[in-house]
Amino acid sequence: MRILVLGGTRFFGLQLVHRLAAEGHRVTVLTRGLAPVQLPPSVEHLVGDRRQAASLREAIGSRTWDVVIDNIGFTAEESRLAVDVFAGRTGRFLFTSTAAVYACLADLVNPYREEDTERLPERARARQDPQLAYGFGKLEAERVLQQAYRERGFPITILRLPIVIGPRDHTLRAYSYWVRLKDRAPLILPDGGRVDWRFIYSGDVVRAFVRLLEEERSIGRIYNFAQEEIVSVREFVKLSAEILGVNVETVDIPLQWLRAQRIDPVFSPYSIPRSWILDISKAQRELGWRSTPWREWMRASIEWFEREYHGPPPENYARRAEELQLIERWRKMTTA
Ligand SMILES: NC(=O)c1ccc[n+]([C@@H]2O[C@H](COP(=O)([O-])OP(=O)(O)OC[C@H]3O[C@@H](n4cnc5c(N)ncnc54)[C@H](OP(=O)(O)O)[C@@H]3O)[C@@H](O)[C@H]2O)c1
Repeated sequence: MRILVLGGTRFFGLQLVHRLAAEGHRVTVLTRGLAPVQLPPSVEHLVGDRRQAASLREAIGSRTWDVVIDNIGFTAEESRLAVDVFAGRTGRFLFTSTAAVYACLADLVNPYREEDTERLPERARARQDPQLAYGFGKLEAERVLQQAYRERGFPITILRLPIVIGPRDHTLRAYSYWVRLKDRAPLILPDGGRVDWRFIYSGDVVRAFVRLLEEERSIGRIYNFAQEEIVSVREFVKLSAEILGVNVETVDIPLQWLRAQRIDPVFSPYSIPRSWILDISKAQRELGWRSTPWREWMRASIEWFEREYHGPPPENYARRAEELQLIERWRKMTTA
């Protein structure tokens, strides 16, 4: 197939490009050409700005594709541009969305189902909340695509992904835990790390795309993809320590107490106020979705970071000393 990937040079997008090229597809990526890239030799690289109509049009000329994968669409406007540019010029349009769309909804109950975004109202005043801007942007981007499907048959498929973890993860969220475990000083677990997650392995995101390419019946559909296991932040830290071969003390501190001290628990990026579990039964039923076992991909990801990551620590690590002082303060207060 002739496949155009918008993005595809950073994290799982790059892994996807490698996999598609290895499978013999004719792959083109489109980026602004700012990030340094190592693409497989068979992959064509177009330079253009996906957000600027003139730049995007000029970069792609009059070409057509069997599949366009939009890995860097974030707003309604960007989706409108994609529909304008690619309608009639691609057989499929796969859009990378996010589980953050569910954060925009009121009355949400775990596990989150695809139809929740149709069924549930938006949270009151949520549109003013800058923390929800990303989720709302993606939600509106999805809605433009769904409308184009209904009205013009624009051949969309939408993938909703939770936090992605794996080699090359530029967000360094998982690494925020690993770097702390490696310094062997105590680690704060807000609320004892009892929040539950379904994450997804970057390699499984790639598998999800590949599976969707085979399945024309997925046109017009939205799918949650995530790992099968539900794991708490505490379990995540415990398994990470096991894989790294370290024995580190964890200190449970209530999130409420941290907030009262005006401390944003950036040191534990997966500690949010509630569990975040995607319902994956639709992908299981319609696509036979199976995820890589959690223990297996955690090991692969940690080993990659141990071997290959030579960049700076995450920004949230800069105030590590203050975390340790906080632990002392909490201990004094609770033992007094
Ligand atoms: N990471 C997660 O946990 C997570 C979770 C859920 C969903 N997602 C979704 O995953 C997608 C990102 O995946 P990825 O990190 O693997 O990215 P990717 O496909 O590798 O794309 C990133 C590349 O896009 C290029 N780019 C950025 N802005 C551009 C623009 N305006 N025009 C053209 N190219 C542009 C950048 O290169 P240049 O700078 O050279 O242009 C960058 O290297 C996003 O849609 C995000 O919402 C991520």
